[in-house]
Order: sequence, then structure tokens, then C-alpha cells
Amino acid sequence: MKTKRDFPSLKNDLILRAVKGEEVERIPVWVMRQAGRYLPEYLEVRKQNDFFKICRTPELACKVTLQPIDRFAGLLDASIIFCDILVIPQAMGLEVQMVEGKGPHFPHPIRVVEDLKRLKDTVDVDKELSYVYEAITLTRIKLDGRCPLFGFVGAPWTLFAYMIEGGGSKTLSKAKTWLYTYPKESHRLLQKTTDVIVDFILGQIRAGAQMIQVFDSWGGELTPKMFRTFSVPYLTQIASRVKAAMVEEGLQVPLFIFAKGAHASLDILSSIGYDVVSLDCTIDPKQARIDTKWRVTLQGNADPNLLYAPADVIKKEVREMLNAFGANNYIANLGHGMMPGHSPDALKVFLEAIRDHSSSMGNK
Ligand code: CP3
Repeated sequence: MKTKRDFPSLKNDLILRAVKGEEVERIPVWVMRQAGRYLPEYLEVRKQNDFFKICRTPELACKVTLQPIDRFAGLLDASIIFCDILVIPQAMGLEVQMVEGKGPHFPHPIRVVEDLKRLKDTVDVDKELSYVYEAITLTRIKLDGRCPLFGFVGAPWTLFAYMIEGGGSKTLSKAKTWLYTYPKESHRLLQKTTDVIVDFILGQIRAGAQMIQVFDSWGGELTPKMFRTFSVPYLTQIASRVKAAMVEEGLQVPLFIFAKGAHASLDILSSIGYDVVSLDCTIDPKQARIDTKWRVTLQGNADPNLLYAPADVIKKEVREMLNAFGANNYIANLGHGMMPGHSPDALKVFLEAIRDHSSSMGNK
């Protein structure tokens, strides 16, 4: 296992400084799904390789992770390891396929309580997901300190929903039926998933991840009360267990939480041990500052569809977004991921607008 000393030293630590609330000469930026199908060079790799094969092959995962860093040289302040949140259900014993034009698909999802028996009793996370650790270590070396590297995981509720729905869903009716009908069994599955998540986060950190983002992409689908009952306790547990282990091992890696759509819970999300709360585009920046009381750094939150607009509109919206968040304790990002129809040039306009406007904001 690599230790901190073995990696090339970091030449751009803007994002780590923003997390700590330190002064930054410009606002750091990265975007969710910055590696992906909007990049012709990604599609080229994808033509010859199944999605999960890329995730499982450290050289390919590393190559694809670095594609946006190379293309937008000097404009991205973080990289994020190429992988998927659904590698956890796979490690727990469920089959997951990535179906062309449809997204993730579980041929045998968890439907009835009896199906829980199909999950492994104990998961050797470090063995099952060692390919992610190898990809992280390799990418840290290849990044050569250009910017820090994110590891990530799906949140317990979002993974629970995928395991029961068997894929994407408009209503999440099956997953919610479980919460209402089998609360005890639901908590058992959420806890089991949480235990795997904690091990997986720590493994990614030991392998070289310099920041961790937890994606609760379906957090906003729950009522505030259900979110407090079935998501928040596990998100809290993840942060406290990971932080306790980091203290013991002398590691210091900031934790980011992205609970898409969870507007009603921003106050809670800013007080359960995460350093950064990431916002989707339906949240007003100023309201988010009020709700989170400057306890955390905020990240976000341009509408991904803004990248379909003319360049002058992108620039104007970027200026307004940066002014609304302010230059401190802030990381610019989209409110959700890049989409296959986006043009890389539009992303470049977005990134340059952030660099140009934030350099002139003056937060000193
Ligand atoms: O660049 C990065 O941000 C890192 C890579 C990354 C991927 N998935 C690659 C990917 C990350 C961080 C994820 C997380 C992920 N995966 C989430 C959380 C973020 C979010 O979007 O809310 C979720 C919900 C998933 C599950 C998932 N994986 C879905 C719903 C899909 C289909 C999306 C679609 O548009 O079809 C995927 C597939 C996926 N994950 C792709 C990529 C690049 C596209 C698949 C392909 O190449 O065919």
C-alpha cells in the first residue's frame, strides 16, 4: 500500500484550501461526470470495452479519469476516479449490467424479504473492490500532482433504492414500499450497506484518494421525515466512523455529501460531520448559505442544461452564481452530472468563465 510520501507532491491544492475556508486566488471548479460520454476520447475507449470492464481495469479507469484533466489542462481543480456507485451492490453479491441506452440494470433485484438471503453474509470489501484501489493509486501517480483526486461512493439509501428497483425508476415505488412495509428489514439492509461503504471509503483513502464524495442521488425523493429516518442516520454514521478511523491512522481527507433534491435537509446535512455540502441546481445559493449557516463549504450548482446555452449566457449565469455564493468556502460545479449531449467546448466556456470571473472577485 502506498503511503502519502510516495506520491508526487500536489501543485494545485485550491480545492483543499477552499474546503478549509482558507483564502484562494480563484474559485476552484470540477464537474460531476467530467469523464464520460460527452467526450469523443471516452467514446473511443467505450467502443471497445464494456462499462464495468473499464471500471475493473485500473489502466483503463486511470486513462479515462485523466481524459478531462488532459483536455481541459489547467482548468479543472480536481479529478474523480472513474467508477460507479453500483460496484457496491456487485460486491455484496448482486449482478449489475450497464445496458446501452437504458442505464444500470439488475437482472435479479431484491424484491421480497426472502431475497436478502442472496446477499453475502460478510463482504471482503478490500478483496472485492481492490481494482478500485489499484486504479486510485495508479491515477495518483499519473496525475503527478496536477490536482487532487476524489474517491466516491453511493449513499446507503440510493444504493438500497437501486438494489430494490433493479435500475432507474420515476417513482421509486418498490423501494418506498419496503420502507413503509418492512422498516426493520429496510434498516437491516441499510446498515449492511453502510458497513460496506465505510470499509470502501477507508480503502480508497488508504489507496490515495484525497477527497471523498458520497452521492445520495435519490435523497430528494424521500419526504423530509423519511430522509431523516432512512438516510441521515446512515450518512451520519459514515462520517463519524470514517473520521474516527482517519484520526487513528493519521489521515485527513475531507468528506463531501451530495444529497440531490434534499432541500429541506440542508441544515441537518451541514451538521453531521461532512466538510462540504454539494447542491443541485434547484437550490438558491443564498438560501443554502442561510440554511447551512457557514458551517460547511458549499459546492455547486449550475443547471447542467446551461451548457446548451450560447457562450454569453453561460458567462452571465456563471458570474451571477459566483457572486451569489461568494468567493470563500465555495467550490464551483454543476448541480448534477455532464450529459451525453453536451459539447466539450461548452464545458470549456463554463470553466474559463469561472476562472476569469473569480480571479477578479477579490476575496482577500
Ligand atoms: O467523472 C465522474 O464523475 C466519475 C465517474 C462516475 C460515473 N458514475 C461514471 C458513469 C460517477 C461519480 C458516477 C456516479 C453514479 N453512478 C451516480 C451518482 C451520481 C448521479 O448521477 O447522481 C449514479 C446515480 C450512478 C448510477 C449510474 N451509472 C447511472 C444512473 C448511469 C446511467 C447514466 C446515463 O446517463 O445513462 C450510470 C452509467 C455511467 N456511470 C456512465 C458513466 C460515464 C455512462 C455509462 C456508459 O459509458 O455507457
